[in-house]
Amino acid sequence: MIDFELTDEQRLIRETARDFADGEIVPRARENDRNEHFDTELVQKIADMGFLGAIVPEEYGGRGVDYRTYALIVEEIGRGCSAMRTVVSVVTSLVCSSIVRWGSEEQKQEWLPQLCSGEALGCFGLTEPDTGSDAANLKTRAKQVDGKWRIRGGKMWISLGNFSKLALVFAQTDPEKKHKGLACFLVPTDQPGFTTQEIHHKLGLKGSDTAELSLDDVEGDMMGEVGDGFKIAMSALDSGRYSVAAGCVGICQGSLEASVAYSKDRTQFDRPIGSFQLVQEMIADMVVQTEAARGLVWRAGWLKDQGKPSTTETSIAKLYATEAAVKCADLGIQVHGGSGYVDDYPVERYLRDARVTTLYEGTSQIQKLIIGRAYTGLNALVP
Ligand code: CAA
Repeated sequence: MIDFELTDEQRLIRETARDFADGEIVPRARENDRNEHFDTELVQKIADMGFLGAIVPEEYGGRGVDYRTYALIVEEIGRGCSAMRTVVSVVTSLVCSSIVRWGSEEQKQEWLPQLCSGEALGCFGLTEPDTGSDAANLKTRAKQVDGKWRIRGGKMWISLGNFSKLALVFAQTDPEKKHKGLACFLVPTDQPGFTTQEIHHKLGLKGSDTAELSLDDVEGDMMGEVGDGFKIAMSALDSGRYSVAAGCVGICQGSLEASVAYSKDRTQFDRPIGSFQLVQEMIADMVVQTEAARGLVWRAGWLKDQGKPSTTETSIAKLYATEAAVKCADLGIQVHGGSGYVDDYPVERYLRDARVTTLYEGTSQIQKLIIGRAYTGLNALVP
């Protein structure tokens, strides 16, 4: 059964990640958010700590830690800044874990050490302007020309797209085969035909890079085989959703800590506001949601570490933790009153950054359909 007691090593890694988040990430979060600055220097520091390839085996440049430990790291980075947590989630979970599971030995040797060390960033090119939740229905096409795969199409909302050296691109090879015609390609971005455009004016994650990708006959190195594309995407999301959920536990925890501190400091009616029952109710709601979210993430991580199926439990954790992050950040603002509405305190950024997490890597509605199908055996998406 799952053991909630952390090992000495896990405790040490968590403390190291917490100190790093407080020392390096938190002090830069507000300015990077204000300036919409994607802080590549900070990304390199995160990589230098070994936090970009934590679950990648050591022989490929990673730290080879288990999923539970990975969640501890991601929670601390998420508490510091969700823009930086997004870098960890995309590079580690969506890109590296896909290459670890589906890549050839040559592909692993070529890309994993670069991704873990921060020498290269990677992005995950699944979503398109007209294809979000219906991920199998891709318009991007791949065809073989003189023995090489050529890809044409466009991708949308791609985190790290403007800064990545490698793009994992999902494309259709034969539309009649539907999801069984999809393939996944490793696409180096420094080639003619690969162009990107920055997406601005987001509600949150302003310190994160988001791009639209254009692929005009670019060359791709297929990972797996034709027909593996959809499974690669879904297995990547099994890890990515877990990572998003862990980061959201960090937002919950950060909202709670900021609110407890503020409620003890701020006085009204000659008493600290934390002594009022209605403020304590808000604190208690945050505590319960934070603990519940963390427990669900740890359960999903434990299943992954045991090599057991975890898709449903990952969706449960992702659904609960992302919604909890929105609620805890919102409660955090309520505790802070007017002060919570400006960026002197982290809670307004927490709310803006949390909001995307119920959208990306599968909306809350998609998570509910995955959970509903697992429990009823009925697929709501098939007539
Ligand atoms: N792992 C491996 N294989 C899986 C799998 C998993 N978790 N889930 C499904 N598959 C396989 C199935 O076994 C099946 O294989 P066969 O064809 O051999 O039988 C195949 O995939 C099709 O499975 P389903 O019938 O379950 O697929 P579906 O079409 O019903 O899936 C869906 C529907 C669950 C809604 C899926 O389309 C989905 O998750 N959509 C949401 C997409 C999403 O999350 N997008 C986020 C984009 S990434 C992003 O946001 C990145 C960023 O930059 C931040």
